[in-house]
Amino acid sequence: MSDPRPIGVFDSGVGGLTVLRAIREALPEEATLYLGDTARVPYGTKSPETVTRFALESGRFLAEQGIKLLVVACNTASAMSLEALRAVLPIPVVGVLEPGARAAVRATRTGRIGVIGTEATIASGAYPQALQTLRPGLEVVSRACPLFVPLAEEGWTDNEVAYLTAERYLAPLRDRIDTLILGCTHYPLLRDTIQKVMGAGVALIDSARETAIEVTTQVRRQGLRGQGGGTPRYYVTDAPARFRAVGERFLDEPLEHVEWIRLGEDDAA
Ligand code: DGL
Repeated sequence: MSDPRPIGVFDSGVGGLTVLRAIREALPEEATLYLGDTARVPYGTKSPETVTRFALESGRFLAEQGIKLLVVACNTASAMSLEALRAVLPIPVVGVLEPGARAAVRATRTGRIGVIGTEATIASGAYPQALQTLRPGLEVVSRACPLFVPLAEEGWTDNEVAYLTAERYLAPLRDRIDTLILGCTHYPLLRDTIQKVMGAGVALIDSARETAIEVTTQVRRQGLRGQGGGTPRYYVTDAPARFRAVGERFLDEPLEHVEWIRLGEDDAA
């Protein structure tokens, strides 16, 4: 059984491209649509109500484009809005939080795990909760790193500003953990800088690969296999130039179809 409809992926900006790339590597036969809500990034400083309203608007938009499965490639929206999305959308919805937590539990040797994310994700306590459910007794240290999101959006991922910012946020975690969850999909863009600051002995967990495995399982289990991938279509809610520049550098290919859309003006959620 097969299903040619695309898989939809959304984030507040460029961060979800880390997840899109992993999905395309794992499932080259799948068509994909990507939405970056660039007019309203960052989500991570906003209230759960606002994040859920934005997530519903993004999810509905992609559902209207005829997707067969939605990937919430944003930890903030996964922490706050997964249930709301599942309640209104008639398609499977996959988040990034559980897959990331599972990978961290597999990776840790000492049971001491760090989590970095947006202010909203860290305040929600969703990671410690998911980790404790998977393995009670783990020691979890959390830290919000809000400046990483604008650095990633700007493409400043490996210069001295990125390094000093990372040093300031991460130095207090350095000797306390052996595994660090990059609990925001923007953060893998700064992966090399974060690894340099944390040292080679700390395993960095990015939920992209694990999420792609979860998507693969869902697609196979539900008989939704695609019939040919091709280049993704991209939608953004603000002018595409910067998204395109950062995206092309990160994905190492031209972003051919980037469309500027409007979201939310008539949203009643
Ligand atoms: N990349 C998103 C996340 O994983 C959101 C970042 C933001 O918009 O603040 O949390």
